[in-house]
Amino acid sequence: MLALIKNSTDSIKTLIDFQKNPYLFFDQVKPNDLSHIKYLNMGFKNFYFCYHPDHAKHILQDNKENYPKSDLVLKKILPLSGPTGLIQLKDKKAKSVRQSSGHLMHPDRAKRLSEYVSSFVEEEFDRLDQAAQTGEVVDLKDFLTQLVLRTAGIFILNKDVQGQADDLNEAFVELNRMAGESLRSLFTFPYSPKRNKYLKVIHQELDKIIDEQLQSNDTSLLHELNKKNYPRCFIRDQVKAFMFAGYDTTASSLIFAVDSVARCRKSQNGIFSEKKLGYREAEFTQAAYKESLRLYPSAYFLPRQSIEDDIIRDQKIMAGSQLFISIRHVQRCPEVFEKPDQFIPERFLEKLKHSHGFIPFGGGARICIGAPLAIMEATVVLQKLCERYEFEAAKETPPEIEGLITAHTKSPLYLRLKRRSSC
Ligand code: HEM
Repeated sequence: MLALIKNSTDSIKTLIDFQKNPYLFFDQVKPNDLSHIKYLNMGFKNFYFCYHPDHAKHILQDNKENYPKSDLVLKKILPLSGPTGLIQLKDKKAKSVRQSSGHLMHPDRAKRLSEYVSSFVEEEFDRLDQAAQTGEVVDLKDFLTQLVLRTAGIFILNKDVQGQADDLNEAFVELNRMAGESLRSLFTFPYSPKRNKYLKVIHQELDKIIDEQLQSNDTSLLHELNKKNYPRCFIRDQVKAFMFAGYDTTASSLIFAVDSVARCRKSQNGIFSEKKLGYREAEFTQAAYKESLRLYPSAYFLPRQSIEDDIIRDQKIMAGSQLFISIRHVQRCPEVFEKPDQFIPERFLEKLKHSHGFIPFGGGARICIGAPLAIMEATVVLQKLCERYEFEAAKETPPEIEGLITAHTKSPLYLRLKRRSSC
């Protein structure tokens, strides 16, 4: 009886620790032994925290049928992804929606999108030039966030949502925050007036844009879905799910990337040397972005659940458990990456030692569908900034990170810029 009470108390205590700070919790419970896996009973459920690339390979590839996405976490993001948005869909339906977006990054369209991104950066040059001239420190966080929202608008809806950006931004940021807080909570509250208010804003804005954009015969995710004659509410859920999945993650990763490059003059020069190349050929610039994604993955864990009993690297996994793969620990595995905590873009110019050592976009059948878009966007932004400026982080200490559903920097992205003499 006493043992039962102790186990229950421990289980609740562990859950409370997780809720306090899910991001730090992954560090706190990481085992020091060679198992690289931690079993915990949390809130009366079985959890395995997985830290090794072999775990990722087993769960996402070798025995993937046994590890679907976690219902527990899917429930938390339901308002943002919509009940029928791709993130929530299973099997055939998911495959069909994924096919609709499959060719949206074919070379012609990708080139057009990259031109949009380029022009969004150029719009900011006046402000940045002025700061460079006066030596004033500038914050690039809002600008990069808006750029990502506008690019997502073009990709998903073929529409520059700049006019709606403030409303959409506030609604997505707030809903994301609420989803993150709900991840920390024991309960999912079925009704929240605040959540409904923001959802209403998103639905109204998206419905208006969808009506308007479907008058034309353009190419976008929206138009591809419409060709399949899906019901309107299904299409809106896809649009919402793509905005949710593609906005916050990309913005946060871009902020980390600019900060990482700002702290490494050598990498700025490497990127500068690729200024004449198209984004596809800019291998070093892509490597710098990937290296930042390795160190600071904005999606920091992959939530799965087990259907049947299994064994991973000698660890028994009980059926019906939750498995959280810690992306950022997998990506700092010293067996795969030498000096794993250092920013060394060059490592991405060679083949990695493990197929699942770098998984910022997940893996397997449900790998991120927006990865080519995110990589294009970041490559163009880094190229444009390094072509015109040399820059450094205004604060010496690296940014503090907060992790809810995704990982963010807590502080602004303060930079000190100098115009390059050749521009
Ligand atoms: C740096 C930027 C990004 C990161 C780090 C990222 C990360 C991820 C990860 C880890 C997953 C898999 C989740 C899982 O398996 O549990 C995922 C799925 C997804 N991502 Fe991304 N993503 C990014 C950008 C984007 C963009 C730009 C879009 C679209 C415009 C997008 C749309 C999606 C969608 C729709 C899914 C769900 C796919 C499915 O369930 O079949 N993502 N993303």
